Amino acid sequence: TDRYAVIGNPIAQSKSPLLHTAFARQFGHDVRYDAILAQPEAFRETVLAFRAAGGRGMNVTAPFKLEAADLADTLTERARVAGAVNTLAFGPEGILGDNTDGIGLVGDIQDRLGVALAGRRVLVIGAGGATRGILLPLLQARPAGILVVNRTAARARDLADALAGQGSLEAGPLDAAGGREYDVVIHATSAGLNQGEAPAVDYRMAAGGLAYDLSYGEDTPFMRQARARGAARTVDGLGMLVGQAAESYRIWRGVLPDVRPVLEQLKLA
Ligand code: ATR
Repeated sequence: TDRYAVIGNPIAQSKSPLLHTAFARQFGHDVRYDAILAQPEAFRETVLAFRAAGGRGMNVTAPFKLEAADLADTLTERARVAGAVNTLAFGPEGILGDNTDGIGLVGDIQDRLGVALAGRRVLVIGAGGATRGILLPLLQARPAGILVVNRTAARARDLADALAGQGSLEAGPLDAAGGREYDVVIHATSAGLNQGEAPAVDYRMAAGGLAYDLSYGEDTPFMRQARARGAARTVDGLGMLVGQAAESYRIWRGVLPDVRPVLEQLKLA
């Protein structure tokens, strides 16, 4: 039996055990996947103890994603740019830290939803940790351009500076999106959680446009706002959740699970 786990605090809410158990079943892999609660000051020792006991890899969730980046011996470029690690792989050369959030999102948009990002105009609302985690894989999908807008414009500009040379990336305040048309709009702020409203951003959706909320819910405030702006399709972040897990599974075991049946299972759970 190959052992993996997700580590966080709190951890009881994590869907990762359900997702990875379903992936292992697709391939008939003999895998055990646990959820581990770590005390705030005990992240490093808990990870090292799991590895010493034979663990092969871990997913990392809040509040440990930055510490996981420090702990890793090697970081992938996308993890370095994200400044955060959600996947640790234990190998003979040490601990590899990766971040699969962005590729999970890109895979969900392109493969599951069938929207090729190449040449598309993309708007990202928000410039916090969630945005930092997705920008490099989004740029690598070669959109016509990405505009990042944020309540605190300086945070958006810092992100754009950090990614200078990686593609067409602009940054500005929330009203910088005004009046322009986008094929794909991604909502990545923490506003709108718990019945709040999504930031009032005055974008227009192109015909057939996709609005993607990184948070979860059958019909989030952002999804409603995007429909009012003309979005043809609106989705929440569950597909990205399954997608980032599938990419972690691929890093550990070399095969990419089929996300669709697992996403359906999750919606029913
Ligand atoms: P996360 O890791 O979830 O991205 P974060 O790093 O704290 O969390 O970032 C939260 C994001 O939501 C930021 O873009 C934040 O805008 P600021 O940088 O201006 O703080 C945005 N946000 C949170 N509440 C908001 C609100 N009421 N209106 C607009 N943006 C909001």
